[in-house]
Amino acid sequence: MEGANVTDLELVRAAVAAREDAYAPYSHFAVGAALLTADGTVYPGCNIENAAYTPSNCAERTAFFQAVREGRRAFTAIAIVGGPAGEPVSGRCAPCGVCRQVMMEFCDPASFRVLLGTGGDAFEVHTLEELLPWGFGPADLGHGSAGEGSCCS
Ligand code: THU
Repeated sequence: MEGANVTDLELVRAAVAAREDAYAPYSHFAVGAALLTADGTVYPGCNIENAAYTPSNCAERTAFFQAVREGRRAFTAIAIVGGPAGEPVSGRCAPCGVCRQVMMEFCDPASFRVLLGTGGDAFEVHTLEELLPWGFGPADLGHGSAGEGSCCS
């Protein structure tokens, strides 16, 4: 999905669609995410589990890693929806600590918005700063923002 003016609701719906691809045979908990770049491109993600458990990847990181692999570094929002597989979303799925830390690497915590779908077209809006107060990020190591084109390899 592309377009300079992706709405919050479109982003939440993109996360709901991405959830259809979840591979969650162990937890039976299906998660979808949709990550929005500063120029309006949407990167979908789903959770991908593994028989060895620890290699499993959350929906949020699937979206981030695909986007970064394609050279994207500037993000404005992510929508997340999750719940028991095979059932419609009926409550919030908050991102895990590891995913919050990945967001911290690439996003400005004060302005990056995290949309948590709560069922149907309903969603909550938070900032990364709310979800990860006092986060440790690139600036703590003397690095500038990881924004588009500004980072080294
Ligand atoms: N999961 C996500 O993909 N994102 C979240 O925000 C929370 C948890 C996944 C990981 C695992 O595949 C399943 O949900 C149960 O924890």
